[in-house]
Amino acid sequence: MFKPNRSFDRIATLIALAAAPGIATAQTNDAAVELPDGEAKAFIQGTCMACHRIDYIPNARGYSAEGWRNLIGTMIALPDQTADMVVDYLATNFPKKPGTDPVIVAGPADVTISEWLAPTLGSRPHDPAPGSNGSIWWAGQFANRIGWVDTATGERREYPLEIPNSGPHGLVEDGTGNVWFTGNYQNYMGKLDPRTGGVDDYPLPDGVHHPHTPIVDDEGTVWFTAMSGHVGRIDPDTEEMIVKAAPTDGSFPYGIETNSKGEPWYVDFWGNRLGSVDPKTGEITEHELPHADTRPRRIAIAPDDAVWYTDYPRGYLARFDPDTGETQEWLSPSGETSQPYGIATIGDVIWYVETFPRPNALVRFDSKTETFQSWPIPSGGGVVRNMMATPEGTLVLALSGVNRVALVEIDD
Ligand code: HEC
Repeated sequence: MFKPNRSFDRIATLIALAAAPGIATAQTNDAAVELPDGEAKAFIQGTCMACHRIDYIPNARGYSAEGWRNLIGTMIALPDQTADMVVDYLATNFPKKPGTDPVIVAGPADVTISEWLAPTLGSRPHDPAPGSNGSIWWAGQFANRIGWVDTATGERREYPLEIPNSGPHGLVEDGTGNVWFTGNYQNYMGKLDPRTGGVDDYPLPDGVHHPHTPIVDDEGTVWFTAMSGHVGRIDPDTEEMIVKAAPTDGSFPYGIETNSKGEPWYVDFWGNRLGSVDPKTGEITEHELPHADTRPRRIAIAPDDAVWYTDYPRGYLARFDPDTGETQEWLSPSGETSQPYGIATIGDVIWYVETFPRPNALVRFDSKTETFQSWPIPSGGGVVRNMMATPEGTLVLALSGVNRVALVEIDD
């Protein structure tokens, strides 16, 4: 069923992201990065760069020897002696940088955070999704596979994808137990049947590329954002795909969520705007946000249909009122450089993650009292790019930089 069309690789994605205005990622060229001399330098240049660029090392927040050992253990299995050499080199040359701890705020709620390592090392679990019977799905973007863990027993499974280098990015389980995912690098939507491991592929039309985040609405319709400036949907009965362009050129529809009326809303990561989608026609209406340098990254909708988003480059949590068009915002506890990213709502409580600090901080915001509380993520989190609430009132998180997924149980 798969027809190759415009295919972009991971590098193209990174270049596209580096070009995003207002995004403070120091993107340098490998040629410009010179690692300090030392015993492990040649090994790192030769072996560590199979999955990513060398500038990940100087750009990291830095770690203690123990921190580096834990981190590289999630990416690559090394013989003890080699690991000692690499850890010693990294801890000496790249110790923890000042100002990279989260600001942790005390408060009334308790959480229990449980984590599971993905079987394939360095797989970059990009997004998580709640699965049936308390399980968690994840998209192993660098490993071209979909992962699954039963949180009761710890049993884990991985489903390799047939299309090479699909770059699975976001995913969602539908009402029939199938898992829809975005084949980000190969421009298709996939539907995995976990009972057989088989995948149906739905190629995107010409000119539409880099499918990003999928959701399923109450009718079973699959909606997805695409980095080419589009929102698409797949009809559950006919499996027909319809894709519409956002009114503004050069937009980047990112996180997406439906409200109580079945209306999808998304955030535009390349502009200070939100988009809402007519569920019948798929037509998009844009809504401008007040700060020119706002770049909303992920979205969550509360029971009153207020739209909450993380303003990644400015470090704010914000609420958009769809009736009045007004925005309110609150500076995140770790401040303007905190890089708030994955977000979800449980009733009136907003949950999100600050992804600049190491460890990342899980943040709770009570929208009634307008107060914050936060917790460090035990493994550090890497970068929590997405989180989702479950019907049971728990949260599932993908800890992309430390190759794990997490379940958060909450005692309010
Ligand atoms: C199998 C793939 C793979 C290999 C091999 C690999 N890494 Fe990684 N590395 C990853 C992934 C995935 C991430 C997370 C990337 C992200 O979140 O964008 C990562 C992130 C990093 C980071 C950033 C961490 C942070 O907290 O900011 C550093 C530094 C790093 N790797 C160093 C290394 C070193 C040193 C080696 C060799 C010992 C290595 N990597 C080998 C997959 C790999």
